[in-house]
Amino acid sequence: MLLNILSYAHTLLKECLEEGDVAIDATCGNGHDTLFLSKTVGTSGKVYGFDIQEQAIQKTSQKLTENGCHNVTLIQDSHEKIHTFIKEDVFGGAIFNLGYLPNSDKSIITKPRSTVSAIEAILEKLKTNGLVILVIYYGHPGGEEEKEAVLSYTSQLNQKEYQVLQYSFINQQNQAPFIIAIEKKKRS
Ligand SMILES: C[S@@+](CC[C@H](N)C(=O)[O-])C[C@H]1O[C@@H](n2cnc3c(N)ncnc32)[C@H](O)[C@@H]1O
Repeated sequence: MLLNILSYAHTLLKECLEEGDVAIDATCGNGHDTLFLSKTVGTSGKVYGFDIQEQAIQKTSQKLTENGCHNVTLIQDSHEKIHTFIKEDVFGGAIFNLGYLPNSDKSIITKPRSTVSAIEAILEKLKTNGLVILVIYYGHPGGEEEKEAVLSYTSQLNQKEYQVLQYSFINQQNQAPFIIAIEKKKRS
């Protein structure tokens, strides 16, 4: 059976993340992905979650507390500042859910420049076979520009260093979300 977008994103990350890894949720929102990462890297691992909205950080914090997760640091700031907040040298994987927080202010959205700059910062420290997953929602105002910027950046990554996959349902209506997965290759 074909996996839906969010299940496929988690399946890919489960394959690449190991207990003890450092993982990043670049857009916490309601905290679904943060919780998933926290459980996946386990108590010996570490998760950093970013969101610019206080509401998102609060919701995520609540979800983590309810689930007894203590391996997460939540940061209310932009994901492009990753290196200011994370001092570890190697990241196991990361996820971005682009767009706006569901049932919230639709004008607060991820933006092309900061998104690309955060991806670039994470790739610098990504482990071999580590993954950066981008879940691209683009049906809102501003979404198309971000989609184009992300596709332009990721499609030009050096194929000797990265594999870039696109996973999408091509017969769905209404600008259905899709995945871009970037995997760091072994140095040859
Ligand atoms: C689609 S939602 C994320 C959904 C989330 N992954 C979940 O499981 O509920 C996008 C989130 O990105 C946040 N965001 C927007 N710009 C950001 C930035 N520069 N840095 C970090 N988060 C940002 C928004 O506040 C919003 O909560």
